Amino acid sequence: MTRVVLLMKTLVGWCVLCLVSRGVRAQFPRACSTVEAIESKRCCPTPNADAENACGVHSGRGICDAVRTDMRPWGGTYTLRNVDDRERWPTKFFTQTCKCFGECKLGWTGPNCNLRKAPVIRKNIMSLSVEERQIFLEALQRSKHTIHPQYVIATEHWLGLIDRQTNQTHFSNISVYDLFVWQHYYSVRDTLLGPGRPFKAIDFSHKGPAFITWHRYHLLSLERDLQKLIGDKNFAIPYWNFATGGSECDVCVDDLLGGADPSNPSLISPRSQFRDWGIVCDSLDEYNRLVTLCNGTREGPLRRSPKKNFTLPTMGDVRNCLQLQDFDRPPYFTNSTFSFRNTLEGFDKADIELDFVVMGLHNLVHDFLSGTNALSHSAANDPIFVVLHTFTDAIFEEWLRRFPKNDSFPEEMAPIGHNRYYNMVPFFPPVTNDELYIPSVDLGYSYQIDLADAGQSPSVFIVAGLCLSLLILILLLFLYARQKSRREYEPLVSAKYAAVKYTEDV
Ligand SMILES: *[C@@H]1O[C@H](CO)[C@@H](O)[C@H](O)[C@H]1NC(C)=O
Ligand SMILES: *[C@@H]1O[C@H](CO)[C@@H](O)[C@H](O)[C@H]1NC(C)=O
Ligand SMILES: *[C@@H]1O[C@H](CO)[C@@H](O)[C@H](O)[C@H]1NC(C)=O
Ligand SMILES: *[C@@H]1O[C@H](CO)[C@@H](O)[C@H](O)[C@H]1NC(C)=O
Ligand SMILES: *[C@@H]1O[C@H](CO)[C@@H](O)[C@H](O)[C@H]1NC(C)=O
Ligand SMILES: *[C@@H]1O[C@H](CO)[C@@H](O)[C@H](O)[C@H]1NC(C)=O
Repeated sequence: MTRVVLLMKTLVGWCVLCLVSRGVRAQFPRACSTVEAIESKRCCPTPNADAENACGVHSGRGICDAVRTDMRPWGGTYTLRNVDDRERWPTKFFTQTCKCFGECKLGWTGPNCNLRKAPVIRKNIMSLSVEERQIFLEALQRSKHTIHPQYVIATEHWLGLIDRQTNQTHFSNISVYDLFVWQHYYSVRDTLLGPGRPFKAIDFSHKGPAFITWHRYHLLSLERDLQKLIGDKNFAIPYWNFATGGSECDVCVDDLLGGADPSNPSLISPRSQFRDWGIVCDSLDEYNRLVTLCNGTREGPLRRSPKKNFTLPTMGDVRNCLQLQDFDRPPYFTNSTFSFRNTLEGFDKADIELDFVVMGLHNLVHDFLSGTNALSHSAANDPIFVVLHTFTDAIFEEWLRRFPKNDSFPEEMAPIGHNRYYNMVPFFPPVTNDELYIPSVDLGYSYQIDLADAGQSPSVFIVAGLCLSLLILILLLFLYARQKSRREYEPLVSAKYAAVKYTEDV
């Protein structure tokens, strides 16, 4: 009986979630991990075991509807067709899922979804109070050790999802934080063509316009999970302003995200809670060899070793990036020039010609942290990933404020997964890049940050230059006047050195 109640609660919870937030969750709901659901490609849970009431249609909660996918052509390096189960996501798995009536968009609230939700405020991790910092660290710690209440991960690719011998499906429970890591891994993993034959030129969340919208949603989903976990709907994840131009990882200290272990600097200090964080989804080559997926088992400790003799990005880099008016430009890839996205992602620098060895902003910081952070399939294991990407998102937010009407997010010919209306892999229920390409307050959060100055620098420099010229002029006049007066009064020490030059021509 309690089991049934629990199941109902989960299902109702899911639909309410869908109603309120359009389902800010990913991979598949546990309720849809059954053989029936996979075989029918239908993920429309029934809140009270009444087959007629899929998605809670009777109570006006939702409706079971066909999944819409982007049919526009994609460009880029993935030239294969119909061999990757993430193509036209999520239709290889489900073609029908819950769509909700009267859904509240992200950022709205109230029974009729007509009340603006006060945005949660993302602050600088360095300016959190001791208490706020403790809440953040504890939320992370709980997320690492709590099984995700609604979602499970697929541990085999689509064709292997049902074990015909046991008539069971290959799904696994995973912790809230590890789901966050798994999502990132799944979006960058290779196409599995056969044992030891991975196709690597595919990435649903980097090297294209979706880099920004994908990570935005990824952070939002973690933020919501943490809010639920600690029961505080005002909780917000902080950001790390990495644009210090310095050479130190200032958040790598034990009362923030962990210092280095003195006896093995590539590990986290034993005094940090992150010392014991086992990483998941790290053995990409192993999964490729076995033609399988990351199953969420822990694979060893977190590794991090900030590089010595390294310069982090500067506010000047941020400022230059924010001058770029085009969100992205053809070919919408790592070789796009004058692209805000490509510059922020870090394959291009705003002020120089394209150079493939160049790494800027986001990429540079990952490179700096090295260890687990340097591998994109594994990077999200390090909690620094959260605060690094939050700052990246804050820069995008400032760009959106400056160029609100710019429509340069491509609708087609971006790499697979990166077209504007593509459903982001592996989020479920489906959500497009376009839905995240809006101001953050419309999604229910904002930043306590001032990047407004970044980019005003030319005019700042002009004003400063004018002031300086004026000062010099005044100084010259003063010196000239003094010189004259000195001539009149006969100085005690003869100061020919400067006077000659300024007065000669006069
Ligand atoms: C497998 O299980 C599903 C539902 O659990 C059932 O409908 C189906 O008949 C089963 N198939 C076999 C081969 O046992
Ligand atoms: C997964 O977690 C759910 C809820 O915590 C539990 O009911 C279920 O038995 C777990 N499944 C496995 C395979 O551990
Ligand atoms: C999960 O993956 C790990 C690492 O690839 C592997 O050693 C382990 O056998 C897998 N577990 C299951 C239950 O498949
Ligand atoms: C630091 O980098 C500079 C320039 O790349 C190099 O000349 C110098 O030798 C490096 N110093 C150390 C201690 O590695
Ligand atoms: C960009 O890179 C892709 C893939 O390497 C290549 O096919 C394309 O020609 C390049 N485009 C430009 C403009 O360099
Ligand atoms: C976006 O900015 C670029 C560069 O100024 C401009 O060419 C383009 O027309 C703008 N697009 C829109 C929709 O305003």
